[in-house]
Amino acid sequence: MRIGVIGTGNMGSLLVGALIRSRAVKPKFISVMNRTKEKALILKRKYHHLSVLTSPNEVLQHSDLVFICVKPDQFFPLLDSLRGAWHPSQVAISITSPISVRQLEQLIPCQVARVIPSIVNQSLAGSTLVTFGTEITDIQKSKLWALLSHFSHPIEIDEETIRAASDLASCGPAFLTFLLRKMIDGAVSTTPITQAQATQLTTEMISGLGKLLADGTYTLGELQKKVTVKGGITGIGIEVLEQENHDTFQKLFTETQKKFEEDRKQIDTAFNHGEH
Ligand SMILES: NC(=O)c1ccc[n+]([C@@H]2O[C@H](COP(=O)([O-])OP(=O)(O)OC[C@H]3O[C@@H](n4cnc5c(N)ncnc54)[C@H](OP(=O)(O)O)[C@@H]3O)[C@@H](O)[C@H]2O)c1
Repeated sequence: MRIGVIGTGNMGSLLVGALIRSRAVKPKFISVMNRTKEKALILKRKYHHLSVLTSPNEVLQHSDLVFICVKPDQFFPLLDSLRGAWHPSQVAISITSPISVRQLEQLIPCQVARVIPSIVNQSLAGSTLVTFGTEITDIQKSKLWALLSHFSHPIEIDEETIRAASDLASCGPAFLTFLLRKMIDGAVSTTPITQAQATQLTTEMISGLGKLLADGTYTLGELQKKVTVKGGITGIGIEVLEQENHDTFQKLFTETQKKFEEDRKQIDTAFNHGEH
């Protein structure tokens, strides 16, 4: 399968790297294009055999499956410029959560799907969140699923759940990193441990924790129970966390849902403005 990537910023570059390093696709079957060419040339220097093209149109001409990896506000002008350039046998993949699959189908006259990646896919792990369009064939679904399975665990997600799922799978690494850094700061500001030592211990702990969960040694619940001895030190720490954070995540998900609704309204306005 020939893969095209339009937009080689954070996520487009991550996807290209994951596809190549997981051996899902050979570089010679990948064509990339970015508005600022230098970003695409960085990938070319890393993976010599991929092609850097100069226009989105050219990418469409050389690809069976095209990942569109631009930001939501860059999406509609790009798609407008590609009207009439798609072939019905092609598959277009958007990685942008507030643009619904229904809207994609109205904008792009070929088979479509939405795939939300996560920064953890860079280590060929974690989930990708997949929503198929109504016109995509079973063969193309299987091909896409197999492609994503090389570097992630694809999970089918519907339109209602996409924000919460993206919060957990894609924003989750940032949320957890924030909490880990708070934990380090707390240790450094109240005990004699140094920043460097606290950072090293925390980084090694989270990496080991990931491995324990990945190999199925424990579930999250079992793991917490295993470490928490009643009346012991961990239990005291958990009590503090319970008191201080009892509704932190309810608030977080309420706020991200609100922001998502705002983003969706903006997308709907842009979509209707273009009378798609
Ligand atoms: N960041 C995450 O963890 C994450 C996770 C899941 C999904 N997403 C979604 O991924 C999408 C991209 O995010 P990102 O973080 O990768 O953004 P980014 O780093 O800004 O990348 C967007 C790239 O698209 C290029 N571009 C814009 N318009 C273009 C056009 N008409 N033709 C070709 N290239 C064009 C930009 O080029 P220039 O260099 O000229 O600006 C830029 O390199 C967003 O919709 C985001 O919601 C992000």
